[in-house]
Amino acid sequence: MKSAEIREAFLSFFEEKGHTRVASSSLIPGNDPTLLFTNAGMNQFKDCFLGLEKRAYTRATTSQKCVRAGGKHNDLENVGYTARHHTFFEMLGNFSFGDYFKRDAIHYAWEFLTGDKWLKLPKDKLWVTVYASDDEAYDIWTQEVGIPHERMVRIGDNKGAPYASDNFWAMGDTGPCGPCTEIFFDHGADIWGGPPGSPEEDGDRYIEIWNNVFMQFNRTADGVMHPLPAPSVDTGMGLERISAVLQHVHSNYEIDLFQSLLKASAEAIGCANDDAPSLKVVADHIRSCSFLIADGVLPSNEGRGYVLRRIIRRACRHGNKLGAKGSFFHKIVAALVAEMGEAFPELKQQQAHIERVLKTEEEQFAKTLEQGLRILEQDLAGLSGSVIPGDVVFKLYDTYGFPMDLTGDIARERGLTLDEAGFEQEMDKQRELSRASSAFGMDYNALVKVDADTDFTGYVCTHGEGKVVALFKDGQAVEQLGEGEEGVLVLDRTPFYAESGGQVGDCGFVAAQGLRFDVRDTTKAGGAFLHHGVVDHGTLRVGAAVTAQVDATVRQATALNHSATHLLHAALRQVLGDHVQQKGSLVDSQRLRFDFSHFEAIKPEQLKALEDIVNAEIRKNSEVETEETDIDTAKAKGAMALFGEKYGDQVRVLTMGGDFSVELCGGTHVSRTGDIGLFKITSEGGVAAGVRRIEAVSGAAALAYLNGAEEQLKEAAGLVKGSRDNLLDKLSALLDRNRQLEKELEQLKAKAASAAGDDLASSAVDVKGVKVLAARLDLDGDALLALVDQLKNKLGRAVILLGGALEGKVTLVAGVTQDLTGQLKAGDLMKQAAAAVGGKGGGRPDMARGGGTDAAALDQALALAVPFVEQGL
Ligand code: SER
Repeated sequence: MKSAEIREAFLSFFEEKGHTRVASSSLIPGNDPTLLFTNAGMNQFKDCFLGLEKRAYTRATTSQKCVRAGGKHNDLENVGYTARHHTFFEMLGNFSFGDYFKRDAIHYAWEFLTGDKWLKLPKDKLWVTVYASDDEAYDIWTQEVGIPHERMVRIGDNKGAPYASDNFWAMGDTGPCGPCTEIFFDHGADIWGGPPGSPEEDGDRYIEIWNNVFMQFNRTADGVMHPLPAPSVDTGMGLERISAVLQHVHSNYEIDLFQSLLKASAEAIGCANDDAPSLKVVADHIRSCSFLIADGVLPSNEGRGYVLRRIIRRACRHGNKLGAKGSFFHKIVAALVAEMGEAFPELKQQQAHIERVLKTEEEQFAKTLEQGLRILEQDLAGLSGSVIPGDVVFKLYDTYGFPMDLTGDIARERGLTLDEAGFEQEMDKQRELSRASSAFGMDYNALVKVDADTDFTGYVCTHGEGKVVALFKDGQAVEQLGEGEEGVLVLDRTPFYAESGGQVGDCGFVAAQGLRFDVRDTTKAGGAFLHHGVVDHGTLRVGAAVTAQVDATVRQATALNHSATHLLHAALRQVLGDHVQQKGSLVDSQRLRFDFSHFEAIKPEQLKALEDIVNAEIRKNSEVETEETDIDTAKAKGAMALFGEKYGDQVRVLTMGGDFSVELCGGTHVSRTGDIGLFKITSEGGVAAGVRRIEAVSGAAALAYLNGAEEQLKEAAGLVKGSRDNLLDKLSALLDRNRQLEKELEQLKAKAASAAGDDLASSAVDVKGVKVLAARLDLDGDALLALVDQLKNKLGRAVILLGGALEGKVTLVAGVTQDLTGQLKAGDLMKQAAAAVGGKGGGRPDMARGGGTDAAALDQALALAVPFVEQGL
């Protein structure tokens, strides 16, 4: 069976069992700051397990894109060296949210793996593990399914702490978790390895293919396990591993999909398509890198972008080891698109973008690699012992962009190890900084979580009645908030828009008789809207009836900018092309900022075309329409989905100007495009490789911007004593005059230098028939150079050294006439003279330049000319 057929069989099997087929979510976890990348099928359902989110179904099945290259689940180091680890893989999963539990989960797994209608795996090749104390699961397997005891293994807390076990699964250090039962396939005695729980379990003989997690707890940061509202099921089966089993091969790299990636990698590198671990690394890494880029990540020096950069660089290094000349990695994208583009259309759509991002990164890395390797070789040459010190690892990381795993790879090749503790110490400072600026690794439970859904009324009004359903202070639920206290307020119904999709949260106030709570920002947690603010006066209590008033002026200005952003997005695709994808957006009441994929600066005429198109749409004054529909219908309409957003089953489609702009968007917008009034771009620039940023203003702010420009024009006109009408004439006359004055000045300088030259020539001394002239003239380098030329002509057989000091900087020029350059070289004289003033210099035998910073030593430097000639002749 091909991988694609297995994927389809799995999803159909669970559909038959009443599961809803749900699309893979993005690799960037939607609205979840605690996770670096999507690392399991359950991520998108996390809030369903916790009981914070209700969906229309209680059973789901997915084939989920996963990346495990950072954070709690990190397989990066193993990739290439085992038969089964990957940075990117597809996880097939079935999920129950308080519906079925252990019994059904186990029976489903068994039926799919061994049933005649399904995968038909030989039962005697399957082994099963359970959490040591999970007798219930053990009994189901042995008594109901009929697994013999000798192929059942109980695994306890084998990782050094309570619940730290191969059979207790947790997404992160906090959040939903529970015991699990895993199914292993025995690849046969000719492969090295032992059954799970044995000392040889890390071998490639017994491979875990399916993990059924019984989600029972929510772990908080203090380590306490709180039972979940309803026990649930989260299963995961790696598509690549099960493909290997069904295709009768022993390594994931031998399955259909990887065979063509390995072939393409070997071709791109120009090496043999053999069993080299490095080739596997490259074939593996092209998947994680391409999928991450397709989901909006770009290489950078922090967070997700840094992990991507590390993976790309690791791939480059392994390619180089195999003899790659020049950049090769981006050339493999086409083969990946051919293999996976059908199942994941985002790959196909973004192929050109992915290739360019990779190529740019490869080229940049080639430069640092060469430099870094040189440094490393130097350090290794002086190394005593077999440990590379932490400060060397850190220097390579910090200065040359060598990730620790890359240095680790090089160390491993030479039988060396790294001083990781030393490296960590050096990293601590950096960590402090990144901790301050990044939320990854934060406690999932420290986020305010509310088991309530707020009804949002703000699409149609900015004012409304509501009831306080929860209050929080410092993340803890409280019954009341007193005067002056800061906190978070949740209402059953609110007109306040909560930050999402790039649009900032609303501000305003919530009030009742004798009470006012100023709302500074609004955010979302699950289905609840959190109003962040401070009690101005009175006491706010849970249960109180209040009125909520959004600051309507701010909201309207924000709406203008948000609608203008949609028009800009559509115009960008018209003017620049379909490769334009939104990479980020920020919309507030002052301005809009839009980041998108595009590889070069936007030309002035393109910027003008963008403004013209957007303003033409504004003048059409068409109605802005919204429609609630399911995601597939929305996509069929051509609606653009946005990066980093989590979409539910029902989505809101926003249409402007007929089909001019169709986007999925939950934001608040104008009623008609004419409300935007005016659109003006204020800046354009690059933010990362392949990403441009446009900032713009709309409405009153656009007018104010233009008025400001007009004021500047007037001021400029005042400075040249003109008016707006004749400003350009005045300016060009001024520039002409300036040019003329510069020319005159040049002529005067030349005259002065020539006169000085005459004087100087007479002060040359004779050394063995050579005229030697050393003099101080505080002129700039060019003037000195011209003078040296002139003096050479005047003096005939001569050596000249001129020096000047201007603003503490010493400039030196040395000249030797052509007939003497066989014996005396200007460059040599310059080296000595420049060193005397604390600097450097050099040049041709007949003319050299240099300089330094020690002006007080200039005379000493000049005095070197005579002895130089005396010794040289
Ligand atoms: N969450 C479990 C895993 O990742 C099962 O899906 O293994």
